Amino acid sequence: MSYDRDQAAEEFTRWSESYDRCILQWLLFGPSHRALIRRIRAVAADRPFRVLDVGCGTGLFASRIRAAMPEAEVVGIDLVPEMLAKGRRRWEFLADNVIPVRGDSERLPFASGTFDFVTCANSFHHYPNQERAVQEMQRVLRPGGRLLIIDGYRDGPWGWFIYDVCVTFREGNVHHASSRRFRELMGAAGFQAVAQKVHRGFAPFLLSEGVVPESIPSIPAPHFRVRQAVDA
Ligand SMILES: C[S@@+](CC[C@H](N)C(=O)[O-])C[C@H]1O[C@@H](n2cnc3c(N)ncnc32)[C@H](O)[C@@H]1O
Repeated sequence: MSYDRDQAAEEFTRWSESYDRCILQWLLFGPSHRALIRRIRAVAADRPFRVLDVGCGTGLFASRIRAAMPEAEVVGIDLVPEMLAKGRRRWEFLADNVIPVRGDSERLPFASGTFDFVTCANSFHHYPNQERAVQEMQRVLRPGGRLLIIDGYRDGPWGWFIYDVCVTFREGNVHHASSRRFRELMGAAGFQAVAQKVHRGFAPFLLSEGVVPESIPSIPAPHFRVRQAVDA
C-alpha cells in the first residue's frame, strides 16, 4: 500500500510536539538547511528574492534563511496544521517577511511565476504523487527561477539501509526517489541545467536542482501577497 496524505497528517500531528528537539535536527535537518542556504547564497548573491519552502514544518528553515539572508521573503507551506502551529512563535517573530500557509505540495495555492526559488527539504518522500509536486513547483517559479530539493540519498548501501529499510519501517511506505528518478522528474517538468550533489555523512542526503527556462512565459503576479493561514 502506498503512503498517503492521511498517514502524513497522522505522523506529523504526532511528531509535531517533539520535532524541533529530535536527533535528526542534528544529523540531517540542520545540515540540509545549511546546504540549501549555501546554494541560494551562491546563486542570489545580494539580490532580494522570494522563496517558497514546500513542506516547511515548524519553520526552522524559514528562520535560518532569514537570519542568513535578510533580503529574503519567505512563504512556507505545509500539509499539517500542527507542524505550522508548533512554529507559531517563530512565524510571529518573522512576521514581516515570512508567511506560513497550510496546503498540499501537489496543489500549490499560488499564481504561476511567483517565486525566485522553491525549496523542499526532507519532505519530498512523503508525497504520493511526486511527478505532480515537481510540476507544481515548476509552475510557481518565474522563468529563470530555481528548484532545490533535498531528500535522503538512498542509492548507496548505507543510504538504502537508512532510508529504504529504517525510515520505511518507522514511517510506512514513503518513497525516497533515486538520484536518477529526481533527474527524470525534473526533466519531465521542463527544468534545465539539472544538477545534483551528494552530501555524505551519517545521514547522507542528495541536493537536486534545476532551472526554469527563460523562454517559458509566466503569468506575472505583481500584487501577490499570501494571507497568513495558520488556524491553530
Ligand atoms: C520531516 S518534515 C521536514 C520539515 C522541514 N522541511 C525541515 O527540513 O525541517 C516533513 C514535512 O513535510 C510535510 N508534508 C508531508 N506531506 C506533505 C504534502 N503533501 N504537502 C505539504 N507538506 C507535506 C509534513 O507535514 C512535515 O512538516
